Amino acid sequence: MSSSSRIAKALATNSRLFRAPGRVNIIGEHTDYNDGLVLPTNTALYTWLNISPRSDRTIHVTAHNLGDSQSFCLDDIRRSENPGWLDYIKGVAAQLEADGVRLRGAELSIDGEIPIGGGLSSSASLELATATALLKISAAEMAPERISEICQQAENLYAGVNCGIMDQYSVACCKRGEAILLDCRSLDTMFVTIPKHISLLITDSGAKHRLPDGAYNNRGDECRQAVDLIAEVELGIQSLRDVSMPTLQASKVHLGERLFRRSRHVVTEIIRVTEAFGALQSGDPVKLGALVSASHSSLRDDFEVSCDEVENLVEIADACDGVLGSRMIGGGFGGCVLSVTYTERLEDTISKISNDYGPIIGRTPWMHIVSPTDPAGEVDMQ
Ligand code: GLA
Repeated sequence: MSSSSRIAKALATNSRLFRAPGRVNIIGEHTDYNDGLVLPTNTALYTWLNISPRSDRTIHVTAHNLGDSQSFCLDDIRRSENPGWLDYIKGVAAQLEADGVRLRGAELSIDGEIPIGGGLSSSASLELATATALLKISAAEMAPERISEICQQAENLYAGVNCGIMDQYSVACCKRGEAILLDCRSLDTMFVTIPKHISLLITDSGAKHRLPDGAYNNRGDECRQAVDLIAEVELGIQSLRDVSMPTLQASKVHLGERLFRRSRHVVTEIIRVTEAFGALQSGDPVKLGALVSASHSSLRDDFEVSCDEVENLVEIADACDGVLGSRMIGGGFGGCVLSVTYTERLEDTISKISNDYGPIIGRTPWMHIVSPTDPAGEVDMQ
């Protein structure tokens, strides 16, 4: 459905229309929950949400792309043993109320364009669309940075995913045409315009990832174990963000092989984020591509969050003349691949990837050219 028909539908049903984009992390994977740096942008693929207030405290939600409809009462929000899609919405409502906002009941009608389990933050987008809409109809004001923290808490507590702040922050606070260098410890930011001659291309590997399966949370546990061990070698280490390469080398025997590799990914990835920010500032696609490729190797070999389908796709994408580097995107274990390309070579690249990867999955792969857009908010229907 086009955005004009969504506006027409909202006007016809007397509801308000909100949308939240997907996030595209250029580089800085699995660094956010280690107090590190990330460099995400977002893209014009949206979670759309129509909302109209109710006179009671019921939230009734219809999820069109899931063909499902469920309700809960704001006075009785419980956590589920096996979280499903409604728990993201319950979590947002519960955490907003825990922060002192008195919400109104509402009818929500949701439709999403972001592939679920694709590594493009369909969950954070759903959370932010929900939070901004519920706040608006309840006449409550809240800074976008705070909304992103509340949505992160919702995902931690109600969806059972111990994610960092990156996804929610970039969906809430990104700027059209730009990428954000976000310090996940201080929440300090610097923005950089993505130069027109560099394009970011997303291709879905077709392998679905699912974060609550435990592997994502397990990586966070391993990082915390590593920090405890490194802190025995050097005082004052509170997170992998504080660890330098010499300290990491000095802790190698103490850490053992696996935790050493996990830590090496995080420590080197944080360095790559700063360098990638510089490459965007100076408009250097070759440098950016090389960093993206190095990130992928580290995620595959040290952090071990890739999978066969993603490896196949990265190899195919990297073999295209216009591609300067590719990597898995998001939490890993499936999902999409991001490729850095020259804008002038984009069309050739799309058809080559499609022709070479399509036969492997038996269909044309889903592809998307990243187009950084506005953050989550209400759609102006004027
Ligand atoms: C998921 C999480 C994020 C981040 C990435 C990996 O998208 O939600 O917080 O940890 O994985 O970088």
